[in-house]
Amino acid sequence: MEIIIQSDSQAGDAVAARMIAGLIRRKPDAVLGLATGSTPLGLYRELVRMHREEGLDFSRVTTFNLDEYIGLAPDHPQSYRRFMFENLFNHINSPVERIHIPDGMTDDVPAFCEAYEQAIRDAGGIDLQVLGIGTDGHVGFNEPSSSLASRTRIKTLTRQTLSDNARFFENPDEQPHHVITMGIGTIMESRQVVMLAFGANKAEAVSRTVEGPVCAMMPASVLQFHSKAHLILDDASAAGLAKADYYRWVYANKPDWQRH
Ligand code: PGA
Repeated sequence: MEIIIQSDSQAGDAVAARMIAGLIRRKPDAVLGLATGSTPLGLYRELVRMHREEGLDFSRVTTFNLDEYIGLAPDHPQSYRRFMFENLFNHINSPVERIHIPDGMTDDVPAFCEAYEQAIRDAGGIDLQVLGIGTDGHVGFNEPSSSLASRTRIKTLTRQTLSDNARFFENPDEQPHHVITMGIGTIMESRQVVMLAFGANKAEAVSRTVEGPVCAMMPASVLQFHSKAHLILDDASAAGLAKADYYRWVYANKPDWQRH
């Protein structure tokens, strides 16, 4: 894993945006895996800025989102479809037919999940997957105890995740307990992973992900087995890392040709 510690989330967003923009410039028909939540908002703002000011072109980019709540209509204020359009797709030139977000209103969840996996394969696989991390270590909505080989499927959220995300729902009765999420096996097949984690509330999950054992109780720790995983942190989320000085030193001494 490459551990990139920046002084604040804005600097981290800029590193992540440069990686994505670099990929799109090298490969205009790149396939991106995208995430929701508070964490990637700054990254999406930076990509929108690059589109407007630097002509970053998404017209041939295909996207697959990680997850969606089951039972929320696509235009529900808390649906991840709505989140993605409001925060990214309405502001860039992504053709709607290249945007894929799990359908939380499907009446056949297993068939939908299989078709989603097939659509990823048909697109040639994901070149770069953006990830956040839950305070309980989840990636996508793969909660602790998820199979490290899992594929796209239904999951039940933990109480911790429900309480972390309750702030988004005015009416607690509207907060779904079930989701569709790409599996950990699906995520691990991405050619490159960029995980963002900012703030002190992520420090424990980050240290267990990077320096703890790989285990299903800390799903993000499986990234230790990914050959191209970049973890972008701020000082606060990196505070629990025993080897933080080493990671900073490695990043500061990267050869120029390896810089993002
Ligand atoms: P957050 O969620 O970005 O809102 O902290 C991260 C996650 O649940 O993966």
